[in-house]
Amino acid sequence: MRSLSIGWRDYHESTKHSLESLRRSSHALDWANMPDPFRHYEGVPVLDLPADPPVPETAALDVLQGPGGATPAIDGATFLSQLLFYSASISASKLVPSTGYRYALRVNPSSGNLHPTEFHFLTRGLKDWPDGLYHYRPSSHMAEQRALGGSEIELGDGAAPVVFVLTSIAWREAWKYGDRAYRYCLLDIGHAWQSLALAARAMGCEARAIHAFPDGQIAQAGRLNDDEWPMLAIELHGNTIPVRKPDACETVWYGGEANQLSKETIAYPRIQAMHEATKLIYPGVPTQAAPSGRGEIQLPPSAPSSAGFGTVVRTRRSALDFVGGPPSISLAQLAAILPASCFDFIQLYLYVHRVEGLEPGVYRHWPDHAELELIKKGDQRVAAAGLSLGQFLAGNACVAFSMIGDLERAARAHGDRGYRYVHFEAGAIGQRLYLAAEALGLRATGIGAFYDDEVHRHFGISPEQGQVVYHFAIGYPVPDLRVSASYAEK
Ligand SMILES: Cc1cc2nc3c(=O)[nH]c(=O)nc-3n(C[C@H](O)[C@H](O)[C@H](O)COP(=O)(O)O)c2cc1C
Repeated sequence: MRSLSIGWRDYHESTKHSLESLRRSSHALDWANMPDPFRHYEGVPVLDLPADPPVPETAALDVLQGPGGATPAIDGATFLSQLLFYSASISASKLVPSTGYRYALRVNPSSGNLHPTEFHFLTRGLKDWPDGLYHYRPSSHMAEQRALGGSEIELGDGAAPVVFVLTSIAWREAWKYGDRAYRYCLLDIGHAWQSLALAARAMGCEARAIHAFPDGQIAQAGRLNDDEWPMLAIELHGNTIPVRKPDACETVWYGGEANQLSKETIAYPRIQAMHEATKLIYPGVPTQAAPSGRGEIQLPPSAPSSAGFGTVVRTRRSALDFVGGPPSISLAQLAAILPASCFDFIQLYLYVHRVEGLEPGVYRHWPDHAELELIKKGDQRVAAAGLSLGQFLAGNACVAFSMIGDLERAARAHGDRGYRYVHFEAGAIGQRLYLAAEALGLRATGIGAFYDDEVHRHFGISPEQGQVVYHFAIGYPVPDLRVSASYAEK
């Protein structure tokens, strides 16, 4: 069988939602074949990460806006436990009322709660912790030791004491979302990246993301199961990491047997082909500067919040829906929510429904000057919900967002691989929106489902100016009685 060959434009075009594409779709959920959201590498030593690691107390908004915290962790196990507990662990559960079944929710959000992202990490010279290659097991907050030593495993700059490799298992997502699932895998990686980077910052260290790496070599170096695709490497640096001299011993491999996630794995050739296309790395074409502009509304200083990072990340949830009426949010709260100018390829368009001092309408955010530009006047509640595939929460929120990705500029600089980077950024911004909203006593929900070209028509933008890659909504949540703070592994 000849394998399919496509580029990002074909993939993106063919996975757009429209009334016609939804009518045509014959995709049905095969519940009996639903993939397990937990990957385990069986038959390897499993190391405990200490329970109840220290809580990062620095205010979440401070962590988002720059200053780091500190960690009292004195050894490698406590450091890793704190890092993962506040970035990737189980933090709640949700009840299915009709069956009584409870399923796990995690610190990092995920489209459809299907969690295609896996966290692998290499440690070198962490105090009282064996050097090696590990896979995080969120179901029991433990580390599967896949290799001991690992000094010759080439990951990162060779000096970082901890290097993460985030992988995607696309099948987990495609089971529900079909070909569009690759987009969601990339957005989820963006969320996971920022979840990890912010937890690291709250603990006083910095995370450096590495996007361009030879995928095949990394997959081989980490002996990843075939269904796991390396997407992003993240090095941690900083003098709050408890370190010792790295071991010089040779690597001992345990590897482990990857658990089978479902009875049958259905192939999605379009996703496979798109992933192949994004493996090629363009040799150093400089990225053109993002277009700049100004708006007539200057954002005020951010509203304050003293809510601690640890509490905010563990209580963060996606809102089921929002209270569709008063109160409004203040402009200072909106200023605290909007990210500063630290991303390359995404511009935020806001559907303002209830923000004090702003008339309802569509606004474009210009982060360099902290300004908003009114581009369309009038009530946007029906439009925001309708464009989000009829999801009421986008109309009931105080503010909803379309993230417009400059896919063309990313492709000029990075080829098809640029498609990944735009979605990583959108997911990362989404993670920041979630945490800022939560810190201010509000709630957010990421929205991966939207009528792509209808959004472009609504804003009057051409594909050359950007294409929608993610929606978001923020407001006052309605209570979700299905969520509980506890989860017991079965
Ligand atoms: C990329 C992405 C897309 C999502 N799309 C939607 C959506 O279209 N509608 C919705 O109600 N929730 C959406 N969500 C929210 C997820 O359903 C939610 O994160 C998941 O159920 C886990 O719940 P939690 O966020 O409370 O941990 C999305 C989340 C992500 C990360």
